[in-house]
Amino acid sequence: MMKDLFEKIYKDKGPLGKWASQAEGYFVFPKLEGEISNRMKFRGKEVITWSINDYLGLANHPEVRKVDAEAGAQYGSAYPMGARMMSGHTDLHEQLQNELAEFVSKEAAYLLNFGYQGMVSTIDALVSKDDIIVYDVDAHACIIDGVRLHMGKRFTYKHNDVESLEKNLERATKMAEHTGGGILVISEGVFGMRGEQGRLKEIVELKKNFNFRLFVDDAHGFGTLGETGAGAGEEQGVQDDIDVYFATFAKAMASTGAFIAADQEIIDYLKYNLRSQMFAKSLQMQLVKGALKRLDMLRTMPELKANLWTIVDALQSGLKERGFDIGTTQSCVTPVYLKGSIPEAMALVKDLRENYGIFCSIVVYPVIPKGLILLRMIPTGSHTLEDVEVTLNAFSSIRERLENGTYKRLSAAVAAAMGE
Ligand SMILES: Cc1ncc(COP(=O)(O)O)c(C=O)c1O
Repeated sequence: MMKDLFEKIYKDKGPLGKWASQAEGYFVFPKLEGEISNRMKFRGKEVITWSINDYLGLANHPEVRKVDAEAGAQYGSAYPMGARMMSGHTDLHEQLQNELAEFVSKEAAYLLNFGYQGMVSTIDALVSKDDIIVYDVDAHACIIDGVRLHMGKRFTYKHNDVESLEKNLERATKMAEHTGGGILVISEGVFGMRGEQGRLKEIVELKKNFNFRLFVDDAHGFGTLGETGAGAGEEQGVQDDIDVYFATFAKAMASTGAFIAADQEIIDYLKYNLRSQMFAKSLQMQLVKGALKRLDMLRTMPELKANLWTIVDALQSGLKERGFDIGTTQSCVTPVYLKGSIPEAMALVKDLRENYGIFCSIVVYPVIPKGLILLRMIPTGSHTLEDVEVTLNAFSSIRERLENGTYKRLSAAVAAAMGE
C-alpha cells in the first residue's frame, strides 16, 4: 500500500531532529550575538566563545571590516551575475586564484562558492565509473557526499590508519587493473572533530608502491599550520605530493567561499567540469575582495598565526597539566574528553554556559562512543591568556561536579524521560 511521502517525516524527525524539543535554541541552533570575537552574548549573558572557527581573529579585524564594507559599497551583493563560465568572470576572481595558488605552492587554483559543495563537485569531477575512491572512514560529510555521487567502487580505510589504507590500496589496485580505471585517495589535512592531522607524509610514501592521486581537504589546516600558513601539507613537508589541495574560507579566512589548487592542467579540466561552479552563480565580488585582503594579511602578518598558537599552546598545555584527556590532537582543534551520559553532558554544558560563562560545543554518541562526552574547543587569535585561565578553572570545577554526581542528579528527570 502506497504511503504519503511525508508520513515518515511526521513519525521520525531523524537522528538529531528527535532531540529538538530538548535541545533547540540551546544545544543546537543557539544564537550567539554581538561582534564575532572571544566574548559574545548568549541569551543576554557574556560568554567566552570556544566554538567559532575564526582561527586568526580576522572576522572582526578593523582592516578586514573596512575592506568588506568598501567592497559592499562599491559592488553591492549581486556583482558579478551568472556562473563564471557564462557572465560571472572577473579579473579579481583570476587574481585571487593566482594568489591562492602561489600561497599553497601549486600551479593554479579555482574558486568555489562553498567548501561543502565544492568538495562534493570536485570529487564528482575527478572520477569516472571505472575509477576507485579510497577514503578515511572519519571523513567530513562533504567528502562522504562527494563519494556518494561516484558510480564506481569505493573503499574506506580505518581512521588515519596507514596499514588499513595500504590493504585497501591493494584491493583497489586489483580492481582498477580489472576496470582499467585509476585510484583517488582522499584524506583531511586536519580532522576537525578530534584535531589529528591526516597522516599525509605516510600516505604520500605509499605512492612509491601504489599508483594513486591524493586529494586533501585542509579546511582546518589552511592558515593555521605550516611555516607560512599553507597548511598541513606544508607542515608535513609534502605539499608537492598532494595532487589536489582544498581549503575553505570559512575558517582561518573568516569568510565564505573556498578553493582547490593543483597542476594547471588539472585546474583547467576542473574549471570546465565542476558542476557546482558551472551551474551556480559566481562567488560575489565582496567575498573575492575580502578574500584578497585576508590572504594578504595571512602572508604579511605572521603574528596572526603566532598569536593563535600562543593561545592554543596555553590552552592545550593547561588542560594537560590539569590532567584532562585531550586525545591526540596535532592542531588547534582542542577536544576534551569526559565520561558521562548524554543527559549529564547537557547538564554540564548548561552549567558551563550559565554559571561559568563558557560557550563550547558538545559532541556525544553516536559521533563518539557511548558514555563519552567531547567538549570541542577552537582557540583563536582573538582569545586572551586570561580567557584561557578562566576556562581552565571552570573546567576543573565542572570535572569535579561531574565526578561527584552533581550532573547526574541535575539530569535525572531528563534521563528518565529520554530512557537513558
Ligand atoms: C573538513 C571540512 N571540509 C569542508 C567544510 C565545508 O566548508 P564550507 O563551510 O566552506 O562549506 C568544512 C566546514 O566548514 C570542513 O570542516
